[in-house]
Amino acid sequence: MQHSIKLEVTPDMIERYNRPGPRYTSYPTVPVWEFGEFADDYTASLQIEGRNEKPIALYVHIPFCQQLCTFCGCNKYITKNQEIVEKYLYALEKEIAGVAERLGQRKKIAEIHFGGGTPTFLNPEQLRRVVSMIKSNFDTIENGEWAFEANPSVTNFEQMEVLYELGFRRVSFGVQDMDPAIQRAINRNQTLEQSWKTIKTARGLGYKSINLDLVYGLPLQTQSGFRKTLEEVNKMRPDRLAVYSFAYLPGMFKTHKRAIKAKDLPNPKEKINIFIETINFFLEAGYVMIGMDHYALPEDELAKALKNRTLHRNFMGYTTLHNMSQIGVGVSAISDFGDSYWQNAKDLDQYVKETSINKLIPRRGLIIEKEDQLRRKVIETLMCHGEIRILDFENMYEIDFWDHFADARSKLEEFEVERLVDLSTSKIKLTPLGMLFTRNIAMPFDRHLKDDNATLNFSNTV
Ligand SMILES: C[S@@+](CC[C@H](N)C(=O)[O-])C[C@H]1O[C@@H](n2cnc3c(N)ncnc32)[C@H](O)[C@@H]1O
Ligand code: SF4
Repeated sequence: MQHSIKLEVTPDMIERYNRPGPRYTSYPTVPVWEFGEFADDYTASLQIEGRNEKPIALYVHIPFCQQLCTFCGCNKYITKNQEIVEKYLYALEKEIAGVAERLGQRKKIAEIHFGGGTPTFLNPEQLRRVVSMIKSNFDTIENGEWAFEANPSVTNFEQMEVLYELGFRRVSFGVQDMDPAIQRAINRNQTLEQSWKTIKTARGLGYKSINLDLVYGLPLQTQSGFRKTLEEVNKMRPDRLAVYSFAYLPGMFKTHKRAIKAKDLPNPKEKINIFIETINFFLEAGYVMIGMDHYALPEDELAKALKNRTLHRNFMGYTTLHNMSQIGVGVSAISDFGDSYWQNAKDLDQYVKETSINKLIPRRGLIIEKEDQLRRKVIETLMCHGEIRILDFENMYEIDFWDHFADARSKLEEFEVERLVDLSTSKIKLTPLGMLFTRNIAMPFDRHLKDDNATLNFSNTV
């Protein structure tokens, strides 16, 4: 069992380490990917992927939301217009069929994830329609992992019933913070009753795994106030929790700039104290800490994957999927397979226009070079397991690890002086204090990180 930890972060450390840095849900990170029209390259990659027998994971992006939460950093489209939704579903249908056609053989799907935006923006009939698009083009394996994201304030019994009947067994509800004052500060109205009711409904219907999302570092949040949210959430006893650090990006999101005042945000010292309080709270409540921002009950698959060293990290955060190709469909959706990354157009009109006439044109893409495949593995291992076993890498990639990463080593030695890592010839290991700065410790392995563009693209690491 993990124990609660006594961590002391000095103002001086915050001063030094609180700087823009990636969350490493991919490496190389999205800003490094090339811009272009990758219709032919994407088709060629799908054709190669189609030749293997391995099942895939399918991510379906449903961008719609009824109301804008001003803190949001997701790719979303606020509307009440059903005409746009119908056009989107038509395009999605074309894209799913187009992907299946390029894959060549009828592939098996092991995991389906409906993300957003808010997938439960769709009504039951529309939800059925999306699943039937998938089923008419793919086979699905028995007991596959099917999950969807939902905002409790727009999710009703009928939608959850239909999704269960269709085969979904996992659900992730956004909660963020229970305090009405903070919800007002981020334009999110979600009563405690709504959260409870939705969770009870999901349990009553038989969903086997419930995840709740929280965010710390939001405007007006304090350590004692967030503690109340943690206590309420613990009464709900979700199987998993994602507690994200608020990514404040006024240079990237107009709503952050317009609606969130920097002076209302907890300062870095307060923010890190909320983070430490959260870790200790969930460890004492019997949860296992998974990487930087996830927690799970010990019997949950994520906790088991951590124990068995089969945990992975991808665009959706931590996952139990082992080396599985992920294909994303929908506006802005990301695919990650065959050592390549692709991202669909981020503009809804452009996506709908092109895809409706059977054109599949990712607007960003990257073929991952051998050197970056190695670095990706190092960063992922550090983020998932908090340690690097040097010999594993030397055997797998036929390198002299310390020779290869001589540049990173000098930075790691500085971290060692700060007691953030323990270094030896056979291992790099994050200390409990180092876990608070995982993103910083991964950064020396990133050969593309440039200070001048980091400020615009990445949120601060604290
Ligand atoms: C697509 S939303 C979840 C589903 C649904 N739309 C909702 O809000 O309940 C995914 C999650 O990303 C997190 N998130 C969104 N914007 C964020 C930001 N700027 N910083 C950190 N986390 C963020 C929130 O916790 C949110 O629940
Ligand atoms: S947090 Fe969820 S509901 Fe709010 S705008 Fe973002 S995606 Fe939509």
